This record gives sequence, structure tokens and C-alpha cells, in this order.
Amino acid sequence: MAIIIKNTEIINADGVTRGDIVLREGVFAQVGGCARPAEGDQVIGAEGLCAFPGLVELHVHLRDPGQTHKEDIASGCTAAAAGGVTSLVCMPNTVPAVDSPETVQYIIDKAKATGIRVYPAAAITYGLSGKGCCDYEALKKAGAAAVSDDGRPVEDDDMLLRALREGKRLGLPVLCHCEDLSQAAGGKVHEGRASRLLGVKGMSSSSEYGDIERTIRLAERADAPVHICHVSTKESVAIIREAKARGVKVTCETAPHYFVYTCEKVLGRDADYRMNPPLREEADRLAVIGGLLDGTIDAIATDHAPHSPEEKADFVSAPNGVIGMETSLSATLTFLRDQLSLSDVARLMCFNPARILGIPGGEIRVGAPADLALVDLTEQWTVNPEKLHGRSKNAVFKGELLTGRVKATFCGGKKVF
Ligand code: DOR
Ligand code: ZN
Repeated sequence: MAIIIKNTEIINADGVTRGDIVLREGVFAQVGGCARPAEGDQVIGAEGLCAFPGLVELHVHLRDPGQTHKEDIASGCTAAAAGGVTSLVCMPNTVPAVDSPETVQYIIDKAKATGIRVYPAAAITYGLSGKGCCDYEALKKAGAAAVSDDGRPVEDDDMLLRALREGKRLGLPVLCHCEDLSQAAGGKVHEGRASRLLGVKGMSSSSEYGDIERTIRLAERADAPVHICHVSTKESVAIIREAKARGVKVTCETAPHYFVYTCEKVLGRDADYRMNPPLREEADRLAVIGGLLDGTIDAIATDHAPHSPEEKADFVSAPNGVIGMETSLSATLTFLRDQLSLSDVARLMCFNPARILGIPGGEIRVGAPADLALVDLTEQWTVNPEKLHGRSKNAVFKGELLTGRVKATFCGGKKVF
């Protein structure tokens, strides 16, 4: 039995075509042309919709194990499916941290029931403490798809070098949260006008880009690939652009809030606009868009970071982080509609992230995993956090009128939303 999606716009990183898509036995069996349904096939009329490859999301906090009042693997994957995401990397800053094969196994087992492809990132250092490297080989064997100390930088050069070398040897992408804690620890918002007006500690641009410089230097020394998480400053974009031109194997991601908003948003003292790295200045926002346009920035991820309403209630004491999986595609289509083509969006949200991870998917091609999102490009909707599918409500795009909405999501040929 197959699913036949009739007469849709088929969006790939390398172009747009029109026709039918056949999903059979978990893969795309036909892409384009006209498919003739056989007895028992399910036919879905998709005229007026377009089909994106299922989104591959490089940066998600599922909070499971240990903080399931914020999110768990099931609720996070429901939110993913509603956002068109069919593959996601979950970060290891859970309780306990993902630094043992048992915890990797726990995530993989629990994710099986969700219908979404969950790729656990294991920790670089035990407990994300910076005190000793994990056993990457054992973690990889258990199913870890990447390593990261996300939420914190790996401050020790030797440990980061070791992770980069081992990551290269084992084929484990190293995802780096770059932050100079000696400058930024305890910071609440971007350092500058916003931190001055609010009277809170700032996180400077240099605390991000200085550590990106160090990380790139170490990757060069290790002759190993490295991926930089959540790029938010203009200097970061320039440094990565220059490193790529030099031939360094560096890739990076940004998140929609960095190309949509600036630190003006936090002046109303709403903690739902606080994340790390923070919303920056207009020049940074424009540089991030420039990086997306010229290929310096490889991917759009969300850094989906659920926190409960109680935790987010007080502006200053609230933890950093915002949710975004259910709004990332719509926000990108809405706010970069004049800058990005639909193929650019598929490149940044599907194809490139799959290549960075080294996994199949991210394209609608015969033989590829039958992961796709059917999108109505014209539907307008207002983001109401109460109506989102995850467990937390700290949606950075709350109240925004977005154009373009995921209508159905298929993963491995099965409807998951
Ligand atoms: O805003 C953030 N939230 N940045 C991080 O680096 C960690 C994340 C979290 O875990 O909440
Ligand atoms: Zn991070």
C-alpha cells in the first residue's frame, strides 16, 4: 500500500518541480509525473500545497530525562511533527546529562514510539562539566549522532582538540556552543543599550565571536570539521565567512529569532525574548541574513529550549531559551519571503542539516526516506502559545501573524501530523 500525493509543488534544494509523489515502504518511490493509484493506495489531493522535504532540525532541547515538566521526548516530537520536522538532534544538557551509553539508549528507546527520527547528541565532557572527555566510541556505538556540550562552551583547548580529532575519526559531528564565560556568565541580554537600559548584566558580541575564533583555530589545528551553533553576531558571520574561504571545514547554524528580532524586544522585560546567545542589534540581524544568502550560514535550526511559565515569569531570574519548532518554517517563509527562494529554504532547513549530520534525507528524491511536510504557503495564522503542541509556552513568535503553515507531515512514509 502506498500513499500518493497528487499534483503538488515539489521543493528541493536544487529546484522546484510539479507533479505527484509516491511514498512506499518508507521511501519515495516516485517523484514527479503522474502516478496511477493501485488497489488500496491512499490518494491525497495536494493541489495548492507544496511539499518540502521533512525538516532536519540540528538543535533541540527535549529535556528528557530529568526535566519533563518542560518537555519530554513524546511532547517534543509532537511539536516537531506539527512544525514539519521529521529529524531532530536533541542536546545532551538533560538531567542526568547524556554522557553514558545508557542515557543515549534511553533516548533512542523512548523516541521509537514517536514516529520522528531522533538523533541524540552526547556530551563532550562528563556532565558537561568540562572535567574530562566522554568515551566517544562507546557513545557512538550506543547511537549518539553527534557530540556537544551545548548550553556551555568546552573551555579547555586540549579537551576540545581531543573531541574534534575523535569526532573526525568516528564520524561524529562536533556541535560547538561558543561563549567566553569569563565575559558572559550570568548575562541576561545583549551587552549595550539593552543591558544599560535594563540595568542587567550583558552578554557581549565578543563573548560569542572570540570563542568562535578559538574554536575555528582548534579545528584547523586538528584538521577536523566543526559545526558552530546559534550564530548571532555580525562578527561571527564575518569570521566564519573568512574561515570557509581559507578552506576550514566549518559549518554553522542560526535560528529564526536572530534574523527576525533585535534586542529592542527585551526592553519590555518579557523573558520569552531571552535566550543565549541573546537577540542582538539591527546590524547583526542584517549580517545573519547576509550569511544565509551567501552560504556562510549553512542551516536554520531553532535551539528549541522549553521552560515552564513559572520559570519564565521573572524577567531577570528566568532561564535562557525559547521554543521554536512549530514556528520555524512559517517564520522563515514569512520574514525572509523577499530574500530566500523556496529552494533556499529547503537547502537551509532540510538538505544542508542532513549533510552536516551525515544522515539520509533532506530531499524529495526516489529512494530517499519518505519524509515530507505539506505546506500551504498562503495560509495566515497567529501564533498562540496555548495552541502549540509542546509542553512549554515560551514561544518567541507569540502573537505574530505568519504566512505559510504546515498542513501535514510524513516521516518514513507514515503520517505523523
Ligand atoms: O537559550 C538557550 N537555552 N541557550 C542555551 O545555550 C541552552 C538552552 C537551554 O538549554 O535552555
Ligand atoms: Zn547553545
